[in-house]
Amino acid sequence: MDAISRSPTTKNLVRVYYLQERLKGFGKDSDFAPKHLHVIGAGVMGGDIAAWAALRGLTVTLQDQSIERIAPAIQRAASAFKKKLRDDTQVRFALDRLIPDPSGQGARQADVVIEAIFENLEAKQKLFADIETIAKPDAVLASNTSSLKLEDIAAGLKNPSRLIGIHFFNPVAKMPLVEVVAGKDSDPQALKRGMAFVRKIDKLALPVKSAPGFLVNAVLAPYMQEAMRCVDEGIAPEVVDEAALAFGMPLGPIELADTVGLDIAVAAGAQLASGITEPPRKLMELVNAGHLGRKTGRGFYTYNQGKPQKAAVGQVPAGLAERLIKPFLAAAQRCVEQGVVADAELADAGVIFGTGFAPFRGGPMNYLKERNEQP
Ligand code: NAI
Repeated sequence: MDAISRSPTTKNLVRVYYLQERLKGFGKDSDFAPKHLHVIGAGVMGGDIAAWAALRGLTVTLQDQSIERIAPAIQRAASAFKKKLRDDTQVRFALDRLIPDPSGQGARQADVVIEAIFENLEAKQKLFADIETIAKPDAVLASNTSSLKLEDIAAGLKNPSRLIGIHFFNPVAKMPLVEVVAGKDSDPQALKRGMAFVRKIDKLALPVKSAPGFLVNAVLAPYMQEAMRCVDEGIAPEVVDEAALAFGMPLGPIELADTVGLDIAVAAGAQLASGITEPPRKLMELVNAGHLGRKTGRGFYTYNQGKPQKAAVGQVPAGLAERLIKPFLAAAQRCVEQGVVADAELADAGVIFGTGFAPFRGGPMNYLKERNEQP
């Protein structure tokens, strides 16, 4: 028993518990109690953010360019609510809280406005310029952007300090972490309110600075790129994924790339590598042929009813897991050095809850420290 409680695994799992408690503390020191969320953009992200918040008891208005674009999100929400709530009356109440709003009237009363429209700078700038004139003066204005600079989007506002980032992960219902992004000019009060909102909907808020990829995508992208380079060198995707699973990752990096979408993987790689390195060859071949991963039924793997068809894995080459993890660890270290997160502990917390990084290893910074301490 004593040996178990002193084992590094136990120590690290206890650490994960404390990391989670630390994240739960963000936003606690605010008396902001949002009741109404307005979401603009009813696509993959906006639709699911709206559904999640309605499930958690908020009144949500959901805006898009037409009612036809909102309908699929409401349908998705209806089946998710049925699965989660099971009770017909509760499902009805949750659906009543999720209000299609093609004309965007909800933005006038909302306590929080989240924008999740196409990743297009001019469109976002124009949208926020309009929203600023109608939103309540103390409403939180937030963008869910993954790759645009918050400062550039804020340039469309009369008061740019109002804009913050509230960056959810896909799939929204499954991912516990939400990055709350501070732009250069973001108002600290708005950030506190943003974090209080995230807690209110039962997610874990991680404060991050506006920088390419924030924390989570900044560590995932180089790791996925390295994995795809291994495939270019002739290592089977199954073998690459198996090496990462054996290390303790929840999903192999190749299957992860297929899941996020290979078009998105190309865009993220380009943004984060700033053109220094060539994109992986096989990745480009697949994208050029229209094979974008799970969503098109084919990527590095072929999908049958959403499941990748994998060949049996033979021997995993020695050192492969370390090779894959190295760029991941280096990126986490860089984020700490550059102040994207305030300290190493928050990098570990964000990476564990944002990527599922092997919890028993206590996070990438903890792993690096323990490895260096080994004789
Ligand atoms: P999507 O393409 O699924 O949905 C975008 C929606 O916005 C469409 O329904 C479109 O009709 C609507 N729209 C466009 N312009 C509009 C306007 N002016 N007014 C109202 N509605 C408008 O896009 P997705 O994937 O949901 O991405 C949305 C945002 O979320 C982007 O900024 C993206 O960077 C970010 N994001 C995406 C993630 C992902 O995995 N897809 C993950 C995290 C963030």
